[in-house]
Amino acid sequence: MTASETASQSRPIVSLVEAVRTLEGGGFPVRRPFPTAELPLYDPFLLLDHLGPVEWGPGEAIGAPDHPHRGFETVSYVLAGRKQHKDSAGHSGRLGPGDVQWMTAGAGVVHSEMPEAEFHRTGGLQHGFQIWVNLPRKDKLMRPRYQDIPAERIPEAQSADGKVRVRVIAGQALGAGAVIETVIPIFYLHFVVQPGGRHSQPIPAAHNALAYVFAGSACLGPEQTPVPEGHMAAFGAGDAIELGLPADAQGPGELLLLAGTPLNEPVARWGPFVMNTREEIIQAARDYEEGRMGRIAPTVGA
Ligand code: CO
Repeated sequence: MTASETASQSRPIVSLVEAVRTLEGGGFPVRRPFPTAELPLYDPFLLLDHLGPVEWGPGEAIGAPDHPHRGFETVSYVLAGRKQHKDSAGHSGRLGPGDVQWMTAGAGVVHSEMPEAEFHRTGGLQHGFQIWVNLPRKDKLMRPRYQDIPAERIPEAQSADGKVRVRVIAGQALGAGAVIETVIPIFYLHFVVQPGGRHSQPIPAAHNALAYVFAGSACLGPEQTPVPEGHMAAFGAGDAIELGLPADAQGPGELLLLAGTPLNEPVARWGPFVMNTREEIIQAARDYEEGRMGRIAPTVGA
Protein backbone atom coordinates (compact mmCIF):
# COMPACT_ATOMS: atom_id res chain seq x y z
CA MET A 1 0.00 0.00 0.00
CA THR A 2 1.31 3.44 -0.87
CA ALA A 3 1.37 6.42 1.48
CA SER A 4 -1.38 8.12 -0.49
CA GLU A 5 -3.63 5.09 -0.17
CA THR A 6 -3.16 4.79 3.57
CA ALA A 7 -3.86 8.53 3.90
CA SER A 8 -7.16 8.38 1.98
CA GLN A 9 -10.35 9.09 3.85
CA SER A 10 -13.37 7.05 2.84
CA ARG A 11 -16.43 9.18 2.15
CA PRO A 12 -19.49 8.22 4.23
CA ILE A 13 -22.98 7.92 2.73
CA VAL A 14 -24.91 10.99 3.93
CA SER A 15 -28.20 10.23 2.19
CA LEU A 16 -29.91 7.47 0.25
CA VAL A 17 -32.54 8.45 -2.31
CA GLU A 18 -34.90 6.14 -4.17
CA ALA A 19 -35.40 7.15 -7.82
CA VAL A 20 -38.89 8.41 -8.71
CA ARG A 21 -40.62 6.74 -11.68
CA THR A 22 -41.96 9.19 -14.26
CA LEU A 23 -42.47 9.72 -18.00
CA GLU A 24 -40.23 12.03 -20.08
CA GLY A 25 -40.06 13.40 -23.63
CA GLY A 26 -42.77 11.86 -25.80
CA GLY A 27 -43.63 9.47 -22.92
CA PHE A 28 -40.73 7.11 -22.21
CA PRO A 29 -40.39 5.62 -18.73
CA VAL A 30 -37.55 6.99 -16.60
CA ARG A 31 -36.32 6.56 -13.06
CA ARG A 32 -35.08 9.83 -11.64
CA PRO A 33 -33.26 10.25 -8.31
CA PHE A 34 -33.22 14.02 -8.97
CA PRO A 35 -34.44 16.64 -9.65
CA THR A 36 -37.33 16.16 -7.22
CA ALA A 37 -39.05 18.53 -4.79
CA GLU A 38 -36.73 17.24 -2.04
CA LEU A 39 -33.55 17.24 -4.13
CA PRO A 40 -33.73 19.90 -6.89
CA LEU A 41 -30.12 19.38 -7.97
CA TYR A 42 -26.83 17.88 -6.82
CA ASP A 43 -24.38 20.64 -7.74
CA PRO A 44 -22.95 20.60 -10.44
CA PHE A 45 -25.42 17.92 -11.66
CA LEU A 46 -28.92 19.09 -12.59
CA LEU A 47 -30.58 15.82 -13.56
CA LEU A 48 -29.98 12.08 -13.55
CA ASP A 49 -32.40 10.09 -15.70
CA HIS A 50 -32.26 6.30 -15.87
CA LEU A 51 -34.07 5.48 -19.15
CA GLY A 52 -35.79 2.11 -19.09
CA PRO A 53 -34.92 -0.67 -19.40
CA VAL A 54 -38.01 -0.87 -21.60
CA GLU A 55 -38.88 -3.38 -24.30
CA TRP A 56 -40.55 -1.61 -27.26
CA GLY A 57 -42.69 -3.41 -29.82
CA PRO A 58 -42.35 -2.64 -33.55
CA GLY A 59 -43.15 1.06 -34.18
CA GLU A 60 -43.56 1.83 -30.46
CA ALA A 61 -40.24 3.41 -29.41
CA ILE A 62 -40.56 7.03 -28.31
CA GLY A 63 -37.98 9.81 -28.19
CA ALA A 64 -37.73 13.53 -27.51
CA PRO A 65 -38.51 15.56 -30.66
CA ASP A 66 -37.06 19.06 -31.28
CA HIS A 67 -36.53 20.95 -27.99
CA PRO A 68 -34.10 23.71 -26.97
CA HIS A 69 -31.31 23.76 -24.35
CA ARG A 70 -29.22 26.64 -22.99
CA GLY A 71 -26.71 27.03 -20.18
CA PHE A 72 -25.66 23.44 -19.46
CA GLU A 73 -24.58 20.08 -20.94
CA THR A 74 -26.61 16.96 -21.68
CA VAL A 75 -24.79 13.63 -21.57
CA SER A 76 -26.42 10.57 -23.15
CA TYR A 77 -25.08 7.08 -22.45
CA VAL A 78 -26.70 4.15 -24.24
CA LEU A 79 -26.61 0.63 -22.78
CA ALA A 80 -29.14 -0.94 -25.19
CA GLY A 81 -31.12 0.24 -28.20
CA ARG A 82 -30.27 2.74 -30.94
CA LYS A 83 -30.85 6.49 -31.07
CA GLN A 84 -30.46 9.23 -33.65
CA HIS A 85 -29.49 12.65 -32.28
CA LYS A 86 -29.43 15.94 -34.20
CA ASP A 87 -29.05 19.58 -33.30
CA SER A 88 -29.41 23.01 -34.82
CA ALA A 89 -25.61 23.54 -34.82
CA GLY A 90 -25.50 20.96 -37.61
CA HIS A 91 -24.32 18.01 -35.48
CA SER A 92 -25.87 14.63 -35.92
CA GLY A 93 -24.97 11.18 -34.70
CA ARG A 94 -26.26 7.70 -34.11
CA LEU A 95 -25.83 6.15 -30.69
CA GLY A 96 -25.77 2.43 -30.00
CA PRO A 97 -24.79 0.25 -27.03
CA GLY A 98 -21.84 1.71 -25.11
CA ASP A 99 -21.79 5.02 -27.02
CA VAL A 100 -21.71 8.42 -25.33
CA GLN A 101 -22.82 11.81 -26.59
CA TRP A 102 -21.56 14.73 -24.49
CA MET A 103 -23.48 17.75 -25.80
CA THR A 104 -22.56 21.19 -24.50
CA ALA A 105 -25.57 23.38 -25.28
CA GLY A 106 -23.84 26.57 -24.11
CA ALA A 107 -25.50 29.58 -25.77
CA GLY A 108 -28.24 27.36 -27.12
CA VAL A 109 -29.19 24.60 -29.51
CA VAL A 110 -32.35 22.92 -30.65
CA HIS A 111 -31.90 19.20 -29.98
CA SER A 112 -33.69 16.12 -31.26
CA GLU A 113 -33.26 12.73 -29.56
CA MET A 114 -35.23 10.07 -31.42
CA PRO A 115 -35.08 6.31 -31.83
CA GLU A 116 -33.02 5.39 -34.90
CA ALA A 117 -35.37 4.58 -37.81
CA GLU A 118 -34.52 0.88 -38.04
CA PHE A 119 -34.73 0.43 -34.25
CA HIS A 120 -38.11 2.17 -34.31
CA ARG A 121 -39.30 -0.20 -37.03
CA THR A 122 -38.17 -3.42 -35.33
CA GLY A 123 -38.54 -2.42 -31.68
CA GLY A 124 -36.32 -3.92 -28.99
CA LEU A 125 -34.73 -3.22 -25.63
CA GLN A 126 -33.90 0.39 -24.74
CA HIS A 127 -31.76 1.18 -21.71
CA GLY A 128 -29.48 4.06 -20.83
CA PHE A 129 -28.94 7.33 -19.07
CA GLN A 130 -29.10 11.04 -19.56
CA ILE A 131 -27.46 13.40 -17.12
CA TRP A 132 -27.37 17.21 -17.17
CA VAL A 133 -24.20 18.97 -16.04
CA ASN A 134 -24.43 22.66 -15.17
CA LEU A 135 -22.05 25.19 -16.69
CA PRO A 136 -20.36 27.96 -14.68
CA ARG A 137 -21.73 31.47 -15.24
CA LYS A 138 -18.71 32.42 -17.39
CA ASP A 139 -19.28 29.47 -19.76
CA LYS A 140 -23.09 29.43 -20.00
CA LEU A 141 -23.08 31.19 -23.36
CA MET A 142 -20.11 29.29 -24.81
CA ARG A 143 -20.29 28.05 -28.38
CA PRO A 144 -22.20 24.75 -28.55
CA ARG A 145 -19.94 21.67 -28.61
CA TYR A 146 -20.72 18.09 -29.45
CA GLN A 147 -18.55 15.12 -28.48
CA ASP A 148 -19.73 11.85 -29.93
CA ILE A 149 -17.70 8.97 -28.49
CA PRO A 150 -18.28 5.47 -29.87
CA ALA A 151 -18.14 2.56 -27.43
CA GLU A 152 -14.72 1.37 -28.63
CA ARG A 153 -13.15 4.73 -27.71
CA ILE A 154 -14.43 4.73 -24.11
CA PRO A 155 -11.45 3.62 -21.98
CA GLU A 156 -11.99 0.52 -19.85
CA ALA A 157 -9.95 -0.90 -17.00
CA GLN A 158 -10.22 -3.54 -14.31
CA SER A 159 -8.88 -4.35 -10.85
CA ALA A 160 -5.95 -6.76 -10.46
CA ASP A 161 -8.32 -9.64 -9.58
CA GLY A 162 -10.67 -8.77 -12.48
CA LYS A 163 -13.67 -8.45 -10.15
CA VAL A 164 -14.16 -4.70 -10.62
CA ARG A 165 -14.43 -3.32 -14.14
CA VAL A 166 -14.90 0.32 -15.10
CA ARG A 167 -15.77 2.31 -18.21
CA VAL A 168 -14.29 5.79 -17.88
CA ILE A 169 -16.63 8.32 -19.50
CA ALA A 170 -15.13 11.25 -17.58
CA GLY A 171 -12.28 11.44 -15.06
CA GLN A 172 -9.86 8.62 -14.23
CA ALA A 173 -10.14 5.18 -12.62
CA LEU A 174 -7.95 2.09 -12.28
CA GLY A 175 -5.23 3.66 -14.44
CA ALA A 176 -7.52 4.70 -17.33
CA GLY A 177 -8.25 8.33 -18.25
CA ALA A 178 -11.24 9.67 -20.19
CA VAL A 179 -11.04 10.90 -23.79
CA ILE A 180 -13.95 13.33 -23.33
CA GLU A 181 -13.23 16.97 -22.50
CA THR A 182 -15.33 18.51 -19.77
CA VAL A 183 -15.74 22.22 -18.99
CA ILE A 184 -15.36 21.70 -15.23
CA PRO A 185 -13.67 18.66 -13.64
CA ILE A 186 -16.14 15.75 -13.72
CA PHE A 187 -16.01 12.03 -12.95
CA TYR A 188 -18.51 9.83 -14.81
CA LEU A 189 -17.62 6.17 -14.17
CA HIS A 190 -19.62 3.01 -14.94
CA PHE A 191 -18.57 0.22 -12.57
CA VAL A 192 -19.45 -3.47 -12.83
CA VAL A 193 -18.65 -5.27 -9.57
CA GLN A 194 -18.57 -9.06 -9.36
CA PRO A 195 -19.22 -10.89 -6.06
CA GLY A 196 -16.12 -10.54 -3.89
CA GLY A 197 -14.96 -7.40 -5.73
CA ARG A 198 -13.72 -4.34 -3.82
CA HIS A 199 -12.33 -0.99 -4.95
CA SER A 200 -11.44 2.35 -3.39
CA GLN A 201 -11.97 5.07 -6.00
CA PRO A 202 -10.05 8.31 -5.43
CA ILE A 203 -12.29 11.38 -5.81
CA PRO A 204 -10.90 14.85 -5.04
CA ALA A 205 -12.08 16.21 -1.70
CA ALA A 206 -13.47 19.36 -3.38
CA HIS A 207 -15.94 17.33 -5.50
CA ASN A 208 -19.54 16.50 -4.71
CA ALA A 209 -20.01 12.79 -5.33
CA LEU A 210 -22.89 10.35 -5.78
CA ALA A 211 -23.40 6.75 -6.84
CA TYR A 212 -26.50 5.43 -8.58
CA VAL A 213 -26.98 1.65 -8.52
CA PHE A 214 -28.90 0.46 -11.60
CA ALA A 215 -28.48 -3.32 -11.65
CA GLY A 216 -28.21 -5.81 -8.79
CA SER A 217 -26.86 -4.09 -5.71
CA ALA A 218 -23.60 -2.63 -4.44
CA CYS A 219 -22.03 -2.06 -1.05
CA LEU A 220 -20.85 1.52 -0.66
CA GLY A 221 -18.91 3.67 1.78
CA PRO A 222 -16.75 2.82 4.81
CA GLU A 223 -19.56 0.72 6.35
CA GLN A 224 -20.12 -1.07 3.00
CA THR A 225 -23.83 -0.26 3.24
CA PRO A 226 -25.91 -2.40 0.83
CA VAL A 227 -27.55 -0.13 -1.76
CA PRO A 228 -30.21 -1.73 -3.98
CA GLU A 229 -30.96 -1.07 -7.64
CA GLY A 230 -32.79 2.21 -8.31
CA HIS A 231 -31.16 4.03 -5.39
CA MET A 232 -28.67 6.88 -5.25
CA ALA A 233 -26.16 7.39 -2.46
CA ALA A 234 -24.81 10.90 -1.80
CA PHE A 235 -21.40 11.04 -0.14
CA GLY A 236 -19.91 13.30 2.52
CA ALA A 237 -16.36 14.56 3.06
CA GLY A 238 -13.32 12.50 2.17
CA ASP A 239 -11.17 11.71 -0.83
CA ALA A 240 -12.16 8.16 -1.81
CA ILE A 241 -15.30 6.14 -2.37
CA GLU A 242 -15.29 2.47 -1.44
CA LEU A 243 -17.41 0.10 -3.46
CA GLY A 244 -17.74 -3.65 -3.28
CA LEU A 245 -19.95 -6.70 -3.22
CA PRO A 246 -19.87 -9.65 -0.78
CA ALA A 247 -18.51 -12.93 -2.15
CA ASP A 248 -21.91 -14.62 -1.62
CA ALA A 249 -23.89 -12.00 -3.64
CA GLN A 250 -26.31 -13.45 -6.21
CA GLY A 251 -24.75 -11.69 -9.22
CA PRO A 252 -22.85 -8.60 -10.30
CA GLY A 253 -23.84 -5.07 -9.34
CA GLU A 254 -23.64 -2.08 -11.68
CA LEU A 255 -23.47 1.58 -10.77
CA LEU A 256 -22.65 5.02 -12.05
CA LEU A 257 -20.27 7.06 -9.95
CA LEU A 258 -20.64 10.80 -10.66
CA ALA A 259 -18.56 13.55 -9.10
CA GLY A 260 -17.78 17.15 -9.92
CA THR A 261 -16.70 20.45 -8.46
CA PRO A 262 -19.79 22.31 -7.21
CA LEU A 263 -20.37 25.68 -8.88
CA ASN A 264 -21.96 27.31 -5.81
CA GLU A 265 -23.75 29.80 -8.09
CA PRO A 266 -27.44 30.75 -8.16
CA VAL A 267 -29.51 28.43 -10.36
CA ALA A 268 -32.50 29.78 -12.30
CA ARG A 269 -34.15 26.89 -14.08
CA TRP A 270 -37.10 26.65 -16.39
CA GLY A 271 -37.56 23.46 -18.37
CA PRO A 272 -34.71 23.21 -20.88
CA PHE A 273 -32.97 26.44 -19.81
CA VAL A 274 -30.64 26.66 -16.80
CA MET A 275 -29.18 30.10 -16.10
CA ASN A 276 -28.24 32.18 -13.04
CA THR A 277 -31.12 34.70 -12.99
CA ARG A 278 -34.79 34.88 -13.91
CA GLU A 279 -34.01 37.63 -16.45
CA GLU A 280 -31.58 35.30 -18.24
CA ILE A 281 -34.30 32.63 -18.40
CA ILE A 282 -36.76 35.10 -19.96
CA GLN A 283 -34.07 36.09 -22.48
CA ALA A 284 -33.40 32.40 -23.28
CA ALA A 285 -37.11 31.75 -23.95
CA ARG A 286 -37.26 34.86 -26.15
CA ASP A 287 -34.11 33.87 -28.07
CA TYR A 288 -35.56 30.41 -28.70
CA GLU A 289 -38.96 31.72 -29.82
CA GLU A 290 -37.34 34.23 -32.15
CA GLY A 291 -35.20 31.50 -33.73
CA ARG A 292 -31.80 32.58 -32.36
CA MET A 293 -31.01 29.00 -31.27
CA GLY A 294 -31.54 27.94 -34.87
CA ARG A 295 -33.61 25.18 -36.37
CA ILE A 296 -32.76 21.57 -37.15
CA ALA A 297 -32.22 21.34 -40.88
CA PRO A 298 -34.51 18.80 -42.58
CA THR A 299 -32.73 15.74 -43.94
CA VAL A 300 -31.88 16.26 -47.60
CA GLY A 301 -34.36 14.38 -49.77
CA ALA A 302 -36.82 13.84 -46.90
CO1 CO B 1 -31.97 17.24 -25.36
